[in-house]
Amino acid sequence: MSASTPSPFADPAGNWNRRFDEEGYLFGTAPNSWLRDHAEIWQPGQRVLCVADGEGRNSVWLAGRGLVVDAFDIAEVGVAKARRLAATQGVGVSFRVSDCDVYPWPQDTYDGVAAIFVQFADPAMRERLFANIKRCLKPGGTLVLQGYTPKQLDYKTGGPPHASHLYTKATLQSAFADLDLVELREYEAELAEGNGHRGRSALIGLVARRR
Ligand SMILES: C[S@@+](CC[C@H](N)C(=O)[O-])C[C@H]1O[C@@H](n2cnc3c(N)ncnc32)[C@H](O)[C@@H]1O
Repeated sequence: MSASTPSPFADPAGNWNRRFDEEGYLFGTAPNSWLRDHAEIWQPGQRVLCVADGEGRNSVWLAGRGLVVDAFDIAEVGVAKARRLAATQGVGVSFRVSDCDVYPWPQDTYDGVAAIFVQFADPAMRERLFANIKRCLKPGGTLVLQGYTPKQLDYKTGGPPHASHLYTKATLQSAFADLDLVELREYEAELAEGNGHRGRSALIGLVARRR
């Protein structure tokens, strides 16, 4: 990136608002596959938080499964579209516009947290974000997280262009060493999540339970 090109990380709300201010849903309206394939760990009536939920595809789908869902994102344009998606699908989600560093993370509250493609966070922010995610889970609550590995820098089919934002197995094993790992898998797949995540992708998925 040249010195004259503004970094999207300098103005995350503005950058994401511009990306979301288009016809259609940037990542589609269907839930992320890793989340969809692991969501049976939560039972109807349980409370789940969707972190940096964007345009609401994941929170709305979880609410449709009978979960009680809170969701937040820094981009008000995304949250407005998420509210519309929830209304269209006739489900209730408690949405909030918030930066993850100022979100009033309640402690010991959630049966689940969905953190799907939250790789806007550099290592320092990621440490704070993961600490908040762990604290907001109830003992026995489960985190479902999806991200890209550094190999994604070759594919360029989505995600941030910075290796330090991407996850290796070692990154996640170390970050969640105090949780019980249920599943940690590095894999490749063809994603078709709107126009934002499309094509061959180097992925990592984690499911981990608070002790
Ligand atoms: C790749 S998108 C993923 C959105 C959603 N989780 C999904 O899977 O569809 C990353 C999201 O992070 C949000 N975001 C970026 N920086 C943030 C911050 N500091 N706090 C909260 N959300 C942020 C963006 O607005 C965007 O919606």
